[in-house]
Amino acid sequence: MIKRIGILTSGGDCAGLNAVLRAVVLHAVSNKGWEVIGLHQGTAGLMARPVSAERLDPYTMTTVLLRQGGTVLGTTNRGDPFAFPMADGHTVDRSEEVIEGYRLLGLDAVIGIGGDGSFQILRRLAQQGGLNLVGIPKTIDNDLGLTEISVGHDTAVQVATEALDRLQPTAASHDRVMILEVMGRDAGHIALSAGIAGGADVILVPEIPYRMERVAAKIDDIKRQGRNFALVVVAEAVPTEAGDTVTRVHVGGKATYGGIGHHVSERLAALTGAETRVTVLGHLQRGAPPDARDRVIAQAFGVHAVDLIAAGKFDRMVAWQNRRVIDVPILEAIERNQVVDPDGTLVHTARGLGISFGD
Ligand code: F6P
Repeated sequence: MIKRIGILTSGGDCAGLNAVLRAVVLHAVSNKGWEVIGLHQGTAGLMARPVSAERLDPYTMTTVLLRQGGTVLGTTNRGDPFAFPMADGHTVDRSEEVIEGYRLLGLDAVIGIGGDGSFQILRRLAQQGGLNLVGIPKTIDNDLGLTEISVGHDTAVQVATEALDRLQPTAASHDRVMILEVMGRDAGHIALSAGIAGGADVILVPEIPYRMERVAAKIDDIKRQGRNFALVVVAEAVPTEAGDTVTRVHVGGKATYGGIGHHVSERLAALTGAETRVTVLGHLQRGAPPDARDRVIAQAFGVHAVDLIAAGKFDRMVAWQNRRVIDVPILEAIERNQVVDPDGTLVHTARGLGISFGD
């Protein structure tokens, strides 16, 4: 019999996490009569002593949370408990401490809101410690399998589209080629959707190999047809023509993508003589208030996750397919990672509109 559940956000934040949280608390507390404990900073809250967590009550779950980006619980995309980084640089296995944290709180189940990396860790913890886990997919990259959409993706696309809306007038005013670098770790979904929505001339995604001469030819074509500006969207995971990914290393040694836009800009300027400028959209895609679709998906997922726990169905991830919420094995969602299909509808649409992929 379920009495108390935990909920945590893990991995990179995105828009819609607080809306999930609110939905879970409203349904679990008001309709099921359970207690909901919010766990701080992903699994780090369960590792801390005393455990870092708070009871979440429906009256604190105001509609402000629906509109608020980020996660009020905090999150982390460092600190894998199976290889936890210590101050002196070595790593230790602290998984048993996380499992003990779950027991100390007297949890009967835990909802993990995460992407593929987080789910791998949470499943391992669940298997090792016998934890009852339900997953809710969130990732601006939208690369989890078996769900058409994950929380946060739609808002990221919206932000990138709005960036193109703002770049177009200044590009036209100055006769420039504007390059917009968007996020998407190893998947070009944000670039593809925003590029179509925002009227890009070129979209570069890691799934479709390109040649810079082809991109330059497209820019020259546009000029010949009498248009004085162009918009190019490039996904951060696109490699250089030499096949190198462009990354930056941060404090703690973590590398993230970033900088391919500048490479594209320099090469295009050299090949076409066009004046180019680069905008790297970065974390603006993550911190925005959730758009309407993300709020709807987030809340549908939250309610279904509670229903799954009530039904005793664990190791399942809620998913969106064919206009409804269903649930699938977490493992399959991780294994069936979805990148852009070069033969898929959206690539076909873009080509039909004359958008170049540089191939
Ligand atoms: O996976 C989500 C994501 O935003 C990627 O699109 C991006 O490459 C990465 O996280 C950035 O990570 P960080 O938050 O460490 O900068």
